[in-house]
Amino acid sequence: MSPQPTITPSILNCDIAHLAEELDRISNADGVHVDVMDNHFVPNLSWGLPVVEAVTRSTKLPIDVHLMIEAADRWAPAYAEAGCQIVTPHVEACQAPIRLAREIHRLGAQAGLALRPATPLETVDSVLGELDLLLIMTVEPGFGGQSFIEAMLPKIKRARALISERNLSLRLQVDGGVSRAIIERAAEAGADTFVAGSAVYQADDAIAEVAALRALAYGHHH
Ligand code: DX5
Ligand code: ZN
Repeated sequence: MSPQPTITPSILNCDIAHLAEELDRISNADGVHVDVMDNHFVPNLSWGLPVVEAVTRSTKLPIDVHLMIEAADRWAPAYAEAGCQIVTPHVEACQAPIRLAREIHRLGAQAGLALRPATPLETVDSVLGELDLLLIMTVEPGFGGQSFIEAMLPKIKRARALISERNLSLRLQVDGGVSRAIIERAAEAGADTFVAGSAVYQADDAIAEVAALRALAYGHHH
C-alpha cells in the first residue's frame, strides 16, 4: 500500500507581495511546495533562503523545498536548518547524493531527490534506500504553467514498482502540470504526492481546488 495521497501546492506563481494571505488560501493542503531557482540549474531565478525562512514564519503547514540549484551539496543543508520538513535537491546537481541525504537527516529534515524528465530512473537506483521522497519532474523545471509530459507516466510506474519490490516507504512525488485533468492517471501510475501550482493558485477557490485534487487522487490510490 502506498502512502496516503497528499496535495502540496507550489507558491511559485502566487502573489508573493501578499505571502501570508496566499498561504491562508491553501490552509487545507498537506504542505507547501517552495521552488528555489538559481538561474544556473534552470533558466529562471525565484528566491532563496530568506524567502523560504519567511514562508516558515508565515504558515503552520510543513514545507517541502524543491532546490533547482547548482552545487546542491553546498546549499541544501541550510534549508534543513531553516526548518523545512523535506529538502529535495536535484540528482543532476549533486556530487554525493547519499552523503547529502544523510546530512539532511542529521539536520532533522527528510531527504528528497528530484529527477529532470530526461534523467533515467537508474541514476537514483542506489540512492533510493536513503530517501524519504523521490520527485519525478513532469515538466522541464524552471517555470510554472506548463503542461504535464504524459511520457513520464511509465517512469512513474517503474518507480512505483521499484519502491514496492524493495519494500521501501518513500513518497513518490510528481511536479509540473498537475491538474484535475491528469491527477487520476498520475495516481494510477503510482504517484502519491502531488505538487500543483497554477491549478490551485489560478482557481477562484483554492481550498476547493485542493479538496477536488485530493478526492481524485484518493480515488486512484493503491
Ligand atoms: C517547475 C516547478 C513546479 C511548478 C509547478 O519548475 O518545480 O513546482 O512551479 O507549477 P505548475 O503546477 O503550474 O506546473
Ligand atoms: Zn517544484
